[in-house]
Amino acid sequence: MTRESRWCSELQESLFTKSREGVSGYKLPSWTGAPVTVNLPEGSLRQNECDLPSISEPEVMRHFTALSTLNHHIERGMYPLGSCTMKYNPRMNERVAALPGFSSLHPEQDVEDIQGMLEALYILQDMLCEITGFSDCCLQPAAGAHGEFLGMQVIRAFHLANGNDNRDEVLIPDSAHGTNPASVVVTGMKPVTIKSGADGRIDLEVLRAACNENTAGIMITNPSTLGLFEKDIVEISKIIHEAGGRLYMDGANMNAIMGKSRPADMGFDVIHLNLHKTFSTPHGGGGPGSGPICVTEELAPFLPAPIIVEEDGQFELTSYQEQRPSVHPYFGNVGICIRALTYILRCGGNGLTRVSEIAVLNANYIKAELSGVLDIDHSEDCLHEFVATGKQWKEKFGVRTLDVAKRLLDYGMHAPTVYFPLIVDEALMIEPTETESLESLKLFIAAIKSIREEAENNPELLHNAPVSTPVGRMDETKAARQPDLSWMGPCNCG
Ligand SMILES: Cc1ncc(COP(=O)(O)O)c(C=O)c1O
Repeated sequence: MTRESRWCSELQESLFTKSREGVSGYKLPSWTGAPVTVNLPEGSLRQNECDLPSISEPEVMRHFTALSTLNHHIERGMYPLGSCTMKYNPRMNERVAALPGFSSLHPEQDVEDIQGMLEALYILQDMLCEITGFSDCCLQPAAGAHGEFLGMQVIRAFHLANGNDNRDEVLIPDSAHGTNPASVVVTGMKPVTIKSGADGRIDLEVLRAACNENTAGIMITNPSTLGLFEKDIVEISKIIHEAGGRLYMDGANMNAIMGKSRPADMGFDVIHLNLHKTFSTPHGGGGPGSGPICVTEELAPFLPAPIIVEEDGQFELTSYQEQRPSVHPYFGNVGICIRALTYILRCGGNGLTRVSEIAVLNANYIKAELSGVLDIDHSEDCLHEFVATGKQWKEKFGVRTLDVAKRLLDYGMHAPTVYFPLIVDEALMIEPTETESLESLKLFIAAIKSIREEAENNPELLHNAPVSTPVGRMDETKAARQPDLSWMGPCNCG
């Protein structure tokens, strides 16, 4: 049986095909009470028997457990997806977020009834401000890119309020995440790309030349997607502020610098944080995220309502005087916020610092062990991640970075981020995170070394990888554009 047909049979073996007459997974007690009168409209009443499968509880459990393990996930193996910080999510976060005092609330309840929730969110805002050095926080954005969108709106609103309608250009280094220019465009401003210097950082002369009376600000990811700290950040901040602009920090890489340096102290005016990366809340698979922004006092009046304030131990809702339209109902994805708060409280200040130290150590360990195996353009020590290039493997063995990434799946690991950032040819962006043990780092290093040998001796194997997963190499564009996600009956792939 081919791999594809095994996979298809797994799916064909849906709960419906496993159904056997007379088998049941539940037993309802017989009704002994009074007849129930329900006033449902005639058209809403079911006319026929519901065609549900007859199957036992263990079979249901086995079916869904089997399906859940077909995809790679962090509980199954390492997930060194650079820039995405796929760290392990402690189960404690889930337990706290599921407490009925959090999970059973309705956002329209009276503020008197949700004091505990408001206090938790208030503390989270306070902690995020402490970690970043800013004065105010808005928890509404539901993702990093959403935070960028709000942060750009805040900067735009600030310039408009100061009569600077012309300030609509936002400088963005060429190493930036694709969401940065996109967020600028959706707020009606114009992204202006600035070319990085030879060391992968912002070139101060290029920056000075790009500033003018239309400059609204700059968006910088620090540390950058190359895992490099912008060591001239204070000078960069001076140049932008003198030009009348404001500094936005894409804080998605905060995992590298928590407890070490604070973006507000570097001269930034706004930051977004990816709670679903740095603070261990679940990430990926299209689930809910959270991308709060923190801002300086100067920009706080441009944040959307509701704002949580505390007076004599009571939590109230208010708005800033310039109140922007909200970007998400109520307080954003509060379940994710509660998970992040749980994580921060469990780690404590010293614990968060340690998280960053180990994240950086792990990345540098892999980088050092793989030097000479993979080529790395920027040879200095990295922060939480680094970018290698598969250019030489392609030239020597005809093996592309995509082949290496796919082969890693056969070794039980997720691939690093590939072909990003765009400024590195055949890029492999590796971010192990702090939750990987020395043993799993060694396994990853051994896997890359072994794939290097395969590339030399059996490149065809890599071209056909993965060979052990339920599905082989997919047309990724088609998978994203025409996803086939629901069981529609037996399929025809033999
Ligand atoms: C550097 C950087 N910026 C922004 C984002 C966007 O975050 P999100 O995917 O939550 O929208 C990411 C996501 O991984 C990122 O790595």
